[in-house]
Amino acid sequence: MPTLNWIGRKAVENHHKQVPFHLLKEVPELSVGDPGSGNLLVEGDNLLALKALLPYYAGQVKCIYIDPPYNTGADERGVDGKRAGWIYNDNVNSPEIREWLNKVVGEEAEDLTRHDKWLCMMYPRLSLLWRFLRNDGVIFVSIDEVEHSSLRFLLDEIFGIANRVGTIIWKNVTDNNPTNIAIEHEYILCYAKNKQRLSKEWKSQHLAVKENLLEISDKFIRDYPEQEKRQTAYTKWFRDNKDYLWPFDRYKFIDDGGIYTGSQSVHNPGKEGYRYDIPHPRTGKPCMQPMMGYRFPQRTIDELLAQNRVIFGEDETKIIELKVYVKDYRAKLSSLFELDGRVGTNEIKDIFPESKRPFDFPKPTELIEELLSFTTTADDIIFDSFAGSGTTGHSVFKLNKADNQRRRFVLIEMKPSIAREITAERLRRVAEGYKNAKGENVAGLDGGFRFANLGEPLFDERGNIRKTVRFADLARHVYFVETGEPLPKQEKANSPLIGICNGVAVYLLYNGILKDKTPDGGNVLTTNIITHLPAHDGPKVIYGTACRIGHERLRREKIIFKQLPYKLRVDAL
Ligand SMILES: C[S@@+](CC[C@H](N)C(=O)[O-])C[C@H]1O[C@@H](n2cnc3c(N)ncnc32)[C@H](O)[C@@H]1O
Repeated sequence: MPTLNWIGRKAVENHHKQVPFHLLKEVPELSVGDPGSGNLLVEGDNLLALKALLPYYAGQVKCIYIDPPYNTGADERGVDGKRAGWIYNDNVNSPEIREWLNKVVGEEAEDLTRHDKWLCMMYPRLSLLWRFLRNDGVIFVSIDEVEHSSLRFLLDEIFGIANRVGTIIWKNVTDNNPTNIAIEHEYILCYAKNKQRLSKEWKSQHLAVKENLLEISDKFIRDYPEQEKRQTAYTKWFRDNKDYLWPFDRYKFIDDGGIYTGSQSVHNPGKEGYRYDIPHPRTGKPCMQPMMGYRFPQRTIDELLAQNRVIFGEDETKIIELKVYVKDYRAKLSSLFELDGRVGTNEIKDIFPESKRPFDFPKPTELIEELLSFTTTADDIIFDSFAGSGTTGHSVFKLNKADNQRRRFVLIEMKPSIAREITAERLRRVAEGYKNAKGENVAGLDGGFRFANLGEPLFDERGNIRKTVRFADLARHVYFVETGEPLPKQEKANSPLIGICNGVAVYLLYNGILKDKTPDGGNVLTTNIITHLPAHDGPKVIYGTACRIGHERLRREKIIFKQLPYKLRVDAL
């Protein structure tokens, strides 16, 4: 398999393993709503934050969406408010990379190594993200022309070519000042943890919204036999519920066939199509034809007219549209997605009417909803480690509201000013409700999240476990290092038996968990301590500061002893 080489590659290949484990610290005053909702926003560099989250979420995440810096030379705003590159800040122990530390990664002309730096930044993060995915999980990564091919090489290597799912081309702009090739799209690359484990056909969860609309449709047809009254009543209902109806939020009409919208699919794309006259039913004059003619022969239009599926304008000056009923909606996640990228900017401006430029180029929620609706449901966990303005969290709230599910999100944003004033504040506003740019009250979508930042590293400079580390934190860490899995919800919190994995019990003697059965506050494994440990009929792994029991007894009792903190540091993944 071809692989990509770049300056610094050797130094970063295993960097994610050397990143120290930090503890997470909740910031209650920035948390919102129900703390048990399972949503989390972490302020911090995602390299450290992802490492800190591994003991909680390794192998648990159904879908990751990331939108990293595109390396355009103008990815972020500096303190002066001017757009500049991103800053390389990883503490990689290599002379060539240390030189890059804290420097802005700028434009090509200034910096020929900018692609190497970008790859060095992305490699350890993608390696860590891989560890979070469930076997049936997928990752989507947004990127543009600048690093598209490098990203593809990285993902091929980390996820495996066999796990490529596809690439979505998002047509997001119209370039009216073309140079050579007018670039009007960007990419979203999709890879699976294990493509074999994906369902054969992805179905959109919007089918739940569809079901709901079909019921509403029946109800209005039953309750209002008269078409005019039915449409009036439905128009009112539609206005009140529009925000929760995506992708049906343009389905504003109803007739005997059910709820429908108008589609301009009569236009022939590109070259000249069919030409014929369709008389307007009221004026009798021929309706205006699409610029390149119709895409169907007259026979097809005659059939559609007979089925009452043609929508006419007030008069003949409007091109006809076709009725598209909710009942005919069948969603597919297509490799082509067209949506004006400015929608994202309008959304954020609507949420922050007091600010002229709350955040540059946020993704539209509609885009993220499209990805999540095909790949997540129920209480699936969704990660976004380059959270920016929090579009992914907003999309999860919207989607849950629309299809009544309980998806959870974990977002990471590095810049405190963004994490606190934009990401958290946007999520608060959309959860609780806000006044939009037109001064209208927008109802809350419900939901909440915990806000956390990175606490101290687990180990101090001399490699000892910090005095401030609590038993529960170390227990989670020990269990993860020992089993590679997050600690399941415990029935009994303060117990030295922290969990059982594949029949092996994991014990931790730390912080006098046995209420000081000395020596050394019960952190040393002795014959006396063994008698106080909760029983387990099978192999046991016991972590403690020392062991005063002979090999033979350990063997008889099926105990493997591991010394703290040494074994934790050596075995840390
Ligand atoms: C392109 S923006 C993401 C925009 C987001 N998708 C939205 O719709 O708002 C990238 C974000 O990642 C953040 N970021 C960059 N490097 C990061 C890192 N190492 N850890 C965490 N966040 C980072 C930046 O501060 C920026 O807010």
